[in-house]
This record gives sequence, C-alpha cells and structure tokens, in this order.
Amino acid sequence: MSCCARFDGRLSDLSDTGLKIKRGGQVWPSLLWLVDLKQYTGIRLNALLDPMHLLIPAAGSGKRMGAAVNKLLLPLLGQPILAWTLQAADRASSIEWIGILSQPGDWPAIEQILAAMDLSTPVQLLQGGATRQESVYRGVEYLYNLGTVERVLIHDGARCLATPKLFDRCSAALQQVDGLIAAIPVKDTIKVTETGPKGIQIQSTPERSRLWAAQTPQGFRLSLLWQAHREALAQGWQVTDDAALFEKLGWPVYIVEGEESNLKLTTPWDLVLAEQILQQRLELAR
Ligand code: CTP
Ligand code: MG
Repeated sequence: MSCCARFDGRLSDLSDTGLKIKRGGQVWPSLLWLVDLKQYTGIRLNALLDPMHLLIPAAGSGKRMGAAVNKLLLPLLGQPILAWTLQAADRASSIEWIGILSQPGDWPAIEQILAAMDLSTPVQLLQGGATRQESVYRGVEYLYNLGTVERVLIHDGARCLATPKLFDRCSAALQQVDGLIAAIPVKDTIKVTETGPKGIQIQSTPERSRLWAAQTPQGFRLSLLWQAHREALAQGWQVTDDAALFEKLGWPVYIVEGEESNLKLTTPWDLVLAEQILQQRLELAR
C-alpha cells in the first residue's frame, strides 16, 4: 500500500486507509494497519482512530431527472440509487455514523431500503431542508448539538459511485486539515461567458491547469463548518457546496484527488452511464 509521507498542500497522494475493522460500531485497528502506520509521518495514531461522521444530503426531488419521485429512490442495477451510496459509505472503514438528510415524505421508502440492507454502520434519518444548503445546515446543527463530534464528511446521495476508498482517503486527509473536497482535474477547456448583444459571448478562458471539478465527499472541522453555515444564514449567502462557505470566509480548503467515475446522477443519461460503470465493476469483481 502506498502512503502519504508528506503533506504538500495537495492531499491527492494519501493512500487507501481501508484497514480498520468495524465491530459493533467500534473501530479496531488491525495489526496490518498499525504496521503500515509507521510509514505515515506527522499523523498521530489517536487522530487516525477518530471515528468519522458522514452526512448524506438526500432531500432533493431530482427535477432534472424528470421522475415522479426523488431520484435517489429510482432503481439502478437492482437497488435504489441511495442504497448504492449507503453501501459504499458502509464499506468505508473510517465511517462510523451516517445521517441521511431527507424529506419526511421519503422516510418510509428510505426505511424500507435500510431494512433490506443489513448495514454495519448506525444510520439516522434527519429532516432535510428546501435547498441542499439548508439540508446540510440541519445536519451540521444536529451534530454540533451533540457536542462530541469533531469532524464531518458530507457526501451527496446522488454520487452513488464513490468508492469506499475515496471516503477513507478523505477521512484520513481530514486529520491534517480543517477543510477539503474531493475533486478531479478539469479535462475540457472552460469558457467564462456573459450575455452579449448577439447571444452568449465568451469573456475569458481560465488556465485549465488550475481548474478542478468539485465532487463530494467534502470534509470539515465541525465547529468551523457550523460557524460558516451560521454566517451564511446571517449574510444570506447561497452556495451549492460547503467548500464555497469556507472560501467566502477566506479559510483554506484542500483538494483530495477524487474519482472520474464519481458522477453526480443528475439526468437520465447519468443513469445509463452509472449502470455501465456498476456493471463493469461487478464483472471485474467476479
Ligand atoms: N439535496 C438535499 N436537499 C435539497 C436539495 C438537494 O439534500 N433540498 C441533495 C440531493 O438529494 C442530492 C444532493 O443534494 O443528493 C445534490 O443535489 P442535486 O443533485 O441537485 O439533487 P436534486 O436537487 O434532487 O436534483 P435537481 O436539482 O435536479 O432537482
Ligand atoms: Mg438540486
């Protein structure tokens, strides 16, 4: 297993840390893990063993998917989209608790999904809000009020192809920084535009080497994320991810290399792609 020997501001080379064993809600380091730990420099043992709380925003309606129900309840290769997301999070050895932000109208369906899954990680349903930002706010508020949680990962229910390794890499990286996101380098040339007299007009072309496409998981020190969300509420800031709140406050957010296959299922076309990717993974695992 390769390891991150040094922190260089980019956390892309942190390794898979999937060596912890979950037993009855507790985390036990395996021997292999402890041996491997020697290769980590600058990371404290007790920090590595901090359990990670995960919030899954799942309270949207999936308008762009065009279905009659929340897109996360749609079937994908034999089980609902949300079940794939939960399965990956459950298999991540660093995740010790999952909160699903969701609309009460979806709770019976989600409870049915959970009943069919036999997850080893405790899961709690929490009421989501009218926007993703409000849903996350409510989840962060819940965890903050517990008074015992230090760090949190947030992962969109709609990114059901994220692997357990990605969760674990984000959890490990979050022991070293207070804010991070999974992201991948942008492949296309991106144009900044404005509406001109004859249509949409290009304004500029940002240097591609500096552009990253944001994904989730995103991870934060909980007290800072709570502070950021409170400030957003006071100032009326509206953002589409949590990192943007940190950015507005001038707080650093680092990049963990994400996964190309970590799509956010948004339109029916994404369902087709996701099915292909999952199918391929299942075949490779055979
Ligand atoms: N989400 C949420 N609460 C909301 C809106 C969105 O928790 N009020 C969640 C979604 O369930 C999804 C994630 O945020 O897992 C990312 O949002 P998106 O992909 O935009 O999902 P929807 O908002 O459901 O889709 P659309 O924008 O097409 O309606
Ligand atoms: Mg949305």
